Amino acid sequence: MKIVIGNDHAAVDMKWNIKEYIESMGYEVINVGTNENKSCDYPDIAVMACEKIIKKEADLGILICGTGVGMSLASNKIRGIRACVCSETYSARLCRVHNNANVLCFGERVIGIETAKELVTAFLNAKFEGGKHEVRVNKIMSIEEGTYK
Ligand code: RB5
Repeated sequence: MKIVIGNDHAAVDMKWNIKEYIESMGYEVINVGTNENKSCDYPDIAVMACEKIIKKEADLGILICGTGVGMSLASNKIRGIRACVCSETYSARLCRVHNNANVLCFGERVIGIETAKELVTAFLNAKFEGGKHEVRVNKIMSIEEGTYK
């Protein structure tokens, strides 16, 4: 499984830490984030990361900014992306199990590195349950496609 990671200038340190952590879990990581503290625009990074998922060059994404909010807002504008900003492990696990999220977002200015690692572990180890949850996720996707009835 390949994981794409992205970050803006507010999350460079956390990106390197999390990248190393994900690699230590045995995953290949594609880094599309900035490696500098120079100010940049998080939507540009979100688009680059999400395109990797849409093109099937990556399976899941981890996006980090100051709060995780901007990354999630931008990502959710991309067809086929279900991004969730989380700061506790219950939601980080359930957003895959129930919502089939393909992008996890969080903020370097909000949580510490140990919590971030726990979120990543919960997200990557979880599996979509399908069934009634698939019906609901399909409804979300139909809103995006303009076919919701
Ligand atoms: C950058 O200052 C900050 O706005 C950004 O990292 C993020 O928190 C936006 O949601």
